[in-house]
Order: sequence, then C-alpha cells, then structure tokens
Amino acid sequence: MRKALMAGNWKMNKTWAETVVLAQHISNQSTEQWSDLDVVLCPAMPNIKAAYSVLEFDHAPIAVGAQNVHWEESGAYTGEASVGMLAELGAKYCIVGHSERREYFAETDEAVNKKAKALIAGGLIPIICVGESLGIRDDGSFIDYVCAQVRAALAGLEGSNVAKSVIAYEPIWAIGTGRTATPEQAQEVCAAIRATVAEMFDTETAEAIRVLYGGSMKPENVAGLMEKPDIDGGLIGGAALEAESFVYLVNACLD
Ligand code: 13P
Repeated sequence: MRKALMAGNWKMNKTWAETVVLAQHISNQSTEQWSDLDVVLCPAMPNIKAAYSVLEFDHAPIAVGAQNVHWEESGAYTGEASVGMLAELGAKYCIVGHSERREYFAETDEAVNKKAKALIAGGLIPIICVGESLGIRDDGSFIDYVCAQVRAALAGLEGSNVAKSVIAYEPIWAIGTGRTATPEQAQEVCAAIRATVAEMFDTETAEAIRVLYGGSMKPENVAGLMEKPDIDGGLIGGAALEAESFVYLVNACLD
C-alpha cells in the first residue's frame, strides 16, 4: 500500500513572517494521524528554514520541501541553490519541472532529469511535475506528451530510487484556474504514468512510486480524486495558502 502524500506548493507567496504564521497554524491543527501519510510544505526558497524551525520545534508530522534546485554542488550559477544547501535548510523534498518553471524559466526535460538525479544523490525526494497544456489536451495527444515527460525525467535513474520518488500530474489548464480535471481524467493520466514507470523499470517500481494530482485541488473535489486507484495524493497551490483548506485536504486522505 502506498502512503498518501499531500504537498503544498506555496509558489512565490508568503513573507518570512507569514510563513511562520501559516506553518504554525498548520502545525497546530495537525494530529498524530498525520504520521500515516506524508505532509509536505514547500515555501519560497528564503523561507524554508523558517517553516522547518516551526515544525521541528513542534515535532509536527510535517516535512518541508523546496520548489527548485540546481544540479551542481557549487559554482558560478548566480541565483541558484544546490541540493546540499536545501538539505541544510531542512528540506526533505524538492519540486522539479513545475509547468511555471518550464514556461517562464525555460526548464527543459534534460534539466528536470539532472535535477532529479542530483536530488536523489543528495538524499532528497524529487517531486517531478508533468502535465499538458490545453492545446495538447484538446488535440488528444496528452497521454503521449505526459508519458514522454516522464520518460525524460526518469532516464538513467535506478528503479530503487524511482520507487521512492514522486511524480505530480498537473494539467496546465487546471492550475490556478479553478477548472479541475475530473477524477476520471486525472486517473487516466496517472494510470498511464504508472504504466510508463512499469515499462521503464518494473511492476514493483511502478507500484511503489507515488503519483499525485495537482491543479485546483480543493475541499470540494479532493474526495473524488483521492478515491481513484492511481492517485496517491495532491500537489496543492492556492488551497495550500490557507491553513483551514490545506488541513481539510490532508484530513480528507485519512481513513
Ligand atoms: P493550484 O492548486 O492553485 O491550481 O496550483 C496547482 C499547482 O501548480 C501546484 O504545484
């Protein structure tokens, strides 16, 4: 049985002080039952340590993640941060290949692959984002497109590491739009992602890797999505910026 994973991607939101407040509110509402799943907060890079400190002080069953990383250990890469630097801040996870990074910062499949490899080598868990635009959805080639992203991201990795990694299916047309994929649409692609992992590695790896859905996940639609066999959790944007809605989404994953 795969452990559910609920991750909040705060994107470029919340100041240092607001990060402390939100992390504290979420921590206050967490329960021991949250240890049955993995809960992750991904604040903006400068605020990772702030969130980590709050959660660590409380011994909260909540981990911290980053939203981006560079694959080199150090060097002349102005504006970037390495895996080791993120680990020092307390990060256990890191999002890579988010569609916003692919679109606005020209993050390629090759870069996603290098980042995933570097994260695994450094002991962090990559949350690898894939997903199609509305144009690709409408022309019907979305399964091929998403599975090609998965193949590129996981190329050259070992199955044992892939098993511990996370893939997030985030259709671009559902991000921040309020237009969620239906549970059936999300399940179809998440199942295809798992089948791709089985083809590349083996059934055991495919059964172990966690596949999340992301894109306007909220209290009204979480139950329907989580019912689906190949959806193991969520990568949540807007609804992760309020403690109440995020806590609701996490609790919805508990039996
Ligand atoms: P929303 O939940 O705001 O649609 O964002 C999804 C997302 O991009 C998470 O990474």
